[in-house]
Amino acid sequence: MKVTKTSKSKINKIDFSKLPFGTVFSDHMLVCNYKDCQWNESEILPYGPIPMPPGAQVLHYGQSVFEGMKAFKNKSNEILLFRKEENFKRLNQSAERLSIPVIEEDVFMDGLDELLKIDSEWCKADEGYSLYIRPFIFASGECVKASASEEYTFIIITSPTTKYYAGEMNVVVEEHYTRAPQGGVGYAKAAGNYAASFFPTKQANAKGFQQLIWTDAKEHKYIEESGTMNIWFRIGDILVTPPLSDSILGGITRDSIVTLAKDNGIKVEQRRILITEVIEAFNKGRLKEAFGTGTAVTVNPINTITFRDERMVIEQQDDSFALKLKQQLQGIQKGSIVDVYDWTSKLKA
Ligand code: COI
Repeated sequence: MKVTKTSKSKINKIDFSKLPFGTVFSDHMLVCNYKDCQWNESEILPYGPIPMPPGAQVLHYGQSVFEGMKAFKNKSNEILLFRKEENFKRLNQSAERLSIPVIEEDVFMDGLDELLKIDSEWCKADEGYSLYIRPFIFASGECVKASASEEYTFIIITSPTTKYYAGEMNVVVEEHYTRAPQGGVGYAKAAGNYAASFFPTKQANAKGFQQLIWTDAKEHKYIEESGTMNIWFRIGDILVTPPLSDSILGGITRDSIVTLAKDNGIKVEQRRILITEVIEAFNKGRLKEAFGTGTAVTVNPINTITFRDERMVIEQQDDSFALKLKQQLQGIQKGSIVDVYDWTSKLKA
């Protein structure tokens, strides 16, 4: 792997006490190009603009997929990566759906390790900090014919981060727009899924909601996700989350919470949830919690849910499952709780 280090690190210019999510990038990036039916040798370069002809296919047809993963620094200043094999697997599942050639494991893993070693100072050990890692692949072939590209670029960039959302999470049930239909690309981390969500989300933002609850494309009756998160409800003392399908992203945080909840003796049901079931549970005082999960947010409580004109205010619970599971997950990620699941891997020095 060719490595060209920056002669001018930006790290001393960054105010680490103010890190709006995804706006500050570490010094280097990994780049690997696909041409003539193969991934070429990767290269680490200073973070910066990439050459992009106006005819690049991604600009016209959105052929692009990405991942979101996190690294943490433990008390001994070692970098811990969380479930990186799962991100690698999911990147290739997404790639396959978007007709993008899959990445070989060593291109992904060796590139990731090397990049993190070079930019290890950007991963802070202080409480609440992590390094958000964004691997992505896009169609870089120069052609405006509507067909899969013959050339691609794989890049990994990293961004020091603290919180994704600050403040309350008030969500509204979306009954018109759809995040993902059956048979579509909802289970993939396709860039276009997110682009398509911005217009309805902006409309909800204008009405004072931070996010939407997406419902199924066919009837808009069943709950799917919330914003960019998988969604969970605590009804009585059971945690309920929609089952994975081709319209729901298989969140790695979601999967981790399923395991942690079960190991805490909490019953988890992965099944379809009607919005009317949530309303009924609320009216009977049985809707104790709602929360979202995702790499960027980890576990994010939902404060209110609005359905049409009805606003359901979800009171904070003394024995919050969301908080308990979040603390356990974050403890494992940071190395302060023993990882019996083998989810974390130490970056080799
Ligand atoms: C993540 O949680 O990593 C996501 O994919 C959300 C992202 C769009 C910021």
